[in-house]
Amino acid sequence: MTELTDRPVDLDPDFDADDLSSNPSTAPHFADVVASRMSRRTVLRGGMLAAAGFMTTRLVADTPAAYAAPKGKPGKPVPAPAGGGLLGFQAIPLSSADEVVVPAGYTAVPFIAWGTPLRPNGPAFVPGTPPLVPGGNTAAEQEQQVGMHHDGMHYFPFGRGGDVNRRGLLVVNHEYTDEGYLHNGTTTEPAPGDYTLEMVRKSQAAHGVSVLEVRESRRGRWKVMPSKLNRRITANTPMTFSGAAAASPLLDTGSPADGRNPVGTINNCAHGFTPWGTYLACEENFNGYFAIASGTFSQEDTALQKRYGVGRDRFNWATNDPRFVVTPTQPNEPNRFGWVVEIDPFDASSTPVKRTALGRLKHEGAFVHVAGDGRVVVYMGDDQTNDYAYKFVSARPWSQMVAAGQSPLDEGTLYVARFNDDGSGTWMALVHGEGPLTAANGFDDQADVLVKTRLAADALGATRMDRPEWTTVDQTTGMVYLTLTNNRSDSKEINAANPRKPNPWGHIIRWAEAGNDHTATSFQWDLFLLAGPGGGVDGSTIDAEDAFGSPDGLWADADGRVWIQTDGRQPGGANDQMLAADPKNLDAQGRPELRRFFTGVVNCEVTGVITTPDQRTMFVNLQHPGEGGGSTWPQNDGLAIPRSATVIITKDDGGVIGT
Ligand code: FEO
Ligand code: CA
Ligand code: CA
Repeated sequence: MTELTDRPVDLDPDFDADDLSSNPSTAPHFADVVASRMSRRTVLRGGMLAAAGFMTTRLVADTPAAYAAPKGKPGKPVPAPAGGGLLGFQAIPLSSADEVVVPAGYTAVPFIAWGTPLRPNGPAFVPGTPPLVPGGNTAAEQEQQVGMHHDGMHYFPFGRGGDVNRRGLLVVNHEYTDEGYLHNGTTTEPAPGDYTLEMVRKSQAAHGVSVLEVRESRRGRWKVMPSKLNRRITANTPMTFSGAAAASPLLDTGSPADGRNPVGTINNCAHGFTPWGTYLACEENFNGYFAIASGTFSQEDTALQKRYGVGRDRFNWATNDPRFVVTPTQPNEPNRFGWVVEIDPFDASSTPVKRTALGRLKHEGAFVHVAGDGRVVVYMGDDQTNDYAYKFVSARPWSQMVAAGQSPLDEGTLYVARFNDDGSGTWMALVHGEGPLTAANGFDDQADVLVKTRLAADALGATRMDRPEWTTVDQTTGMVYLTLTNNRSDSKEINAANPRKPNPWGHIIRWAEAGNDHTATSFQWDLFLLAGPGGGVDGSTIDAEDAFGSPDGLWADADGRVWIQTDGRQPGGANDQMLAADPKNLDAQGRPELRRFFTGVVNCEVTGVITTPDQRTMFVNLQHPGEGGGSTWPQNDGLAIPRSATVIITKDDGGVIGT
């Protein structure tokens, strides 16, 4: 067996590799910028929206990408909400219960839990039993079932004569696995030495993406259809590369034979969806799946491994699958991850494509917005302490490119953000030959810039952030929102004088692109809110009744409700949750109205949110219920083992969700 370097052991159950910075840059930290702006009392005054004229007109130039479903019919028009405010439900309290809670007048039902067969005659879910007694689902069976750890998700309306609000494709990311529940049916993970290739293959099959045709059978009750479109994409699905880095020697492993075709996608966290009807699965913590063999690596390989934190063999794959062992002579497999993967859910035989023009990061979502001139703009976070926010702008209008047989995600410009302390911001282009991005600094061509995106962004002096997670664009104002989940780093790079250092609760930032042109290279930013226990505790700018921490999932619906989901520590140790914000309904202090809409179960994360086009059915994911124990959710399956699942939420009067 290949000799592996030390595998870090998680002595701290709360350890999260995202909490560690792998960024040596000395550019001003975002916390310093925030402190500077807060000290000038410029935040949360609500002035940005009004000053930019956002409140007065609904923009029509920037077309919403949502539900532009070329293969379906458009959804029914959404009536404007009554009255001034967008939020009509009664807020619910924090919860520690092992059941989901929604406001009075709403109903929530679990759907497509981990292990649900893709087809009616498919293998039924059978949990493993300890210790590793055969009888649970095999790897081959897991490939025919919904994966584990549901995350980012989209609903593609599916027309063809049906009602697009009652029939569609639900596409769901499966971020990672709980190895204890997966193999043993308990919280106890198998010992590294007990792993077999079959177990690794099962874990790999529980990763990836599920595509399911779903239909509403009666109000609020949906079923999986026996559709040819139902499909699993896993860590072993053949894929291709496109874009400027596709032929890079840094992506060549010699396997498969042409060396250019990557295999599989892993750690698919958040997502995106395009106006041409495809799904974007983003590869986040890919680094943790590899073991680094002993030996002497090139300087370039070492620099890449360090900056992306490659190593750890978190799921014991490397011990049985040599693809995940990084050696001096075969160092490139990790470089084939960290990309945005485009999937055509309407063609089950299509090969997923890793779009290298969008850069290589720990990708946390890829929100696609159509700019006024028809070009697509993709907003993306790189989720690690002290990493950056990015956007990509396509070279030409997307419809022209698609008509010409080109991908709008292959040609264009990738930018990284700098947030200045005066409230302005700059998008800095990651273009080979410009500024420091030259051969003298290790960037021989654009392929190098893309494979080494983080290093290129370091060289440009991008602003280090508190773990950039999801982005969304409010289609009614053009405002871009970004969750910054937290920063527990005690790195001395962070100014101790800043009240949010460390920043255990996280915050949400927003910005308006110059002229509301999403292709612009400058913007004006402001803080939307600082999370925490509320009432000013720990510097939080929200009311105590709205207490939350670790904002992560984020989506602005068609009316401009901003849905905020959490993943991590909540005030009082409560369960993770989802709130809705109304950015146009400000209180006397200029703070947006906020109401808690949903609470998850014990030791889960709430992530992934989308509605049908009529906004009368909402899909939300619960990931890793009972992580470390304490949950048997879903409660309606008769099983004690907790399972990630989607939750379908409807309003009992058939109304728009959130009203
Ligand atoms: Fe998978 Fe950044 O959350
Ligand atoms: Ca996330
Ligand atoms: Ca159960």
